[in-house]
Amino acid sequence: MANTILVGAQWGDEGKGKIIDVLTEQADVVVRTQGGNNAGHTVFIGPKKYVLHLIPSGILRKKKTCVIGNGVVVDPIGLVSEIEGLRKIGVKVNGNLFVSETAHVVFPYHRELDAQREVLKGKNKIGTTKRGIGPAYGDKAARVGLRMIDLINAERFEQKLAAKVKENNEVLKAFGAKPLSFKEVHKTYRAAGDYLKPFVANTVTLLHQAVRRGDDILFEGAQGTFLDIDHGTYPYVTSSNTTSGGACTGSGVAPNRMDRVVGVLKAYTTRVGEGPLPTENAEVADMLHAMGREFGATTGRARRCGWFDSVATRHATMVNGIDDLAVTNIDGLDTVETIKVCIGYRDGKKKYDYMPNDVEVLARCEPVYAEFPGWRTPTDKARSWKQLPPKCREYLKAIAELTEAKLFIASVGPAREQTIFV
Ligand code: IMP
Ligand code: MG
Repeated sequence: MANTILVGAQWGDEGKGKIIDVLTEQADVVVRTQGGNNAGHTVFIGPKKYVLHLIPSGILRKKKTCVIGNGVVVDPIGLVSEIEGLRKIGVKVNGNLFVSETAHVVFPYHRELDAQREVLKGKNKIGTTKRGIGPAYGDKAARVGLRMIDLINAERFEQKLAAKVKENNEVLKAFGAKPLSFKEVHKTYRAAGDYLKPFVANTVTLLHQAVRRGDDILFEGAQGTFLDIDHGTYPYVTSSNTTSGGACTGSGVAPNRMDRVVGVLKAYTTRVGEGPLPTENAEVADMLHAMGREFGATTGRARRCGWFDSVATRHATMVNGIDDLAVTNIDGLDTVETIKVCIGYRDGKKKYDYMPNDVEVLARCEPVYAEFPGWRTPTDKARSWKQLPPKCREYLKAIAELTEAKLFIASVGPAREQTIFV
């Protein structure tokens, strides 16, 4: 399989968890490189549903090494409960999970500040997951963050945490929020530090050993291209590089060691949180929600939904260097009579065949649609390209062509076996 970077080509929730799980079969090492427990990767194995937030979904397969890279922000309390949850259902988490020493730690003041800033923004809020992701990356960039290596060093941790809680309590008071108890935070974080110590490692040298051995490494992206801090619909984005470059900086594996980029996208479009979504459509949302689909894995929020946007996905191909496409949730369109695909934007007289950078312009843009006849046949039982209805194949070929990448996987449901290699 070689070294593969997997990214979301839309606004997150493209079904990456499932595709990663399928591709992991051929991988030796699976690496998370950015984001934190704002992510929610859902994997179904048989009748069992697993939602992972920080741990790479490779953990669900035997004999895979899983790495949480330096680019991730780690909520240690969340990570402990994720490990415990997996162990409780019989998944081995011992000697197969490594957390970077230099990954930054998320603290309760990050979560509290995340929430307070959203309140202050009022109607301009981002709609964050309130997991403290933005403030944690903010501390990292401001060079005042604490890292995993600090968390597992009892003496150093106590000193650094005391200063951080003191400073942040002043900020929280200014927001009119309740200050935190150092004692309490210290106690719970130290306990988590002791629990996590065996997992903390120099993951850069570990990954380089894997590269030298010729292991196949899968870099599992979280969130999606348009939530990227640089390339997304700023400020309605998350605080990390969700695009393929983030896999290099977030792991310490260099660009010339990467072989391939896979972009995951839904056969339609969804977004959680605020910010422009040009193809948003109430009928599409009602249809999908009525099917019980499109509720967030992390926050349970109903996702906003719309038609496939090829202006966006073509942009994703450009900034990520996507070679291959995995199209998911095809079965979500099984009942639609006429399927629309956005092929351009219009803002008054001005036409765009690319994503304008100004979010106010993007928010004003009206989609220009092409129409495709729906296949109106269930696809969830299809197990090969030939078993897909001809109109469905036409649609998939068209969206891949418009996205300017090669169709690689067609996914017709959440299960492993509902995966068609094209
Ligand atoms: P944050 O990452 O919690 O700061 O949230 C910033 C924006 O990214 C919000 O619109 C969130 O809804 C969105 N977001 C963050 N993580 C995910 C994810 O895993 N899937 C989809 N959207 C996400
Ligand atoms: Mg998700």
